[in-house]
Amino acid sequence: MRIDLTSKVVLVTGASRGIGNEIARQLAASGATVAVHYSNSPSDAEALCKEIGHGAKTFRADLGDAGAAIRLFDEVVAAYGHIDVLINNAGIAELAPINSPDAEWIASWDKTFNVNTRSTGILTKSAINHFKSRGGGRIIYIASRAAFRGDSEDYLAYAASKAAMVALARSVARGFGKDGIVAFVIAPGFVRTAMAQDAIDAYGEEFVLGGVALTRLTEPSDVAPMIVLLASGLADHATGCSIDINAASYVR
Ligand SMILES: NC(=O)c1ccc[n+]([C@@H]2O[C@H](COP(=O)([O-])OP(=O)(O)OC[C@H]3O[C@@H](n4cnc5c(N)ncnc54)[C@H](OP(=O)(O)O)[C@@H]3O)[C@@H](O)[C@H]2O)c1
Repeated sequence: MRIDLTSKVVLVTGASRGIGNEIARQLAASGATVAVHYSNSPSDAEALCKEIGHGAKTFRADLGDAGAAIRLFDEVVAAYGHIDVLINNAGIAELAPINSPDAEWIASWDKTFNVNTRSTGILTKSAINHFKSRGGGRIIYIASRAAFRGDSEDYLAYAASKAAMVALARSVARGFGKDGIVAFVIAPGFVRTAMAQDAIDAYGEEFVLGGVALTRLTEPSDVAPMIVLLASGLADHATGCSIDINAASYVR
């Protein structure tokens, strides 16, 4: 099987670092033109574009801001003329202990939902309207094992925000398939990035590796190939599915 994404424009949110960065690399390696979204890491995003080529450009948006999410999609369409695939990858996981002051806990809940869920919803809305006018498109949601298994007691908002993302993806798949729009969920377990490092620092490496059936922690390069396959169109009849990439740390 050969995957050729030449002439496909793919918007990857949170491509400056971590899993999104590797997704962008692997998409470009298959010929895609990648719109590299970032928020606070401009130099990482610029460096990635230089490295991967194929017309990759950077786009800045703080996805905690609803207006910025709307503008992001429009700016990418203005730059390339169209988008074929949207990959909702940007996300945050904030530690919010249950005994923290109410105002702090609520602020963290809102921030988590604004970035992980509200902006994902806004980008989804823009993508559906754009894809409808083009006869179709693909949306891939990077959710989490936490959406299905739940998370630890300090990450309640994170787990809930990712579960909302799963329901969103399923609704898109069921509601817009006749418009040629397909949607997929990727549910990673711990993946070695800055985000996982926060959990490793909080709970220790032994805790993180504890439930993993394989001998090492999952790397971004273990996650990205599945996204390239889904972006290609070769797996469109899996629309609505959720794919676990968690080294059998949670088997459902
Ligand atoms: N790592 C894991 O163990 C794991 C497990 C399951 C699911 N996931 C999910 O996988 C996705 C990627 O995670 P990761 O581990 O690669 O995280 P990461 O290394 O922390 O990178 C997060 C990315 O999201 C962007 N981002 C963060 N806050 C943003 C904001 N307010 N507005 C716009 N962009 C923002 C960052 O951009 P800037 O740096 O430019 O601000 C960065 O590119 C997330 O949705 C996460 O929930 C991760």
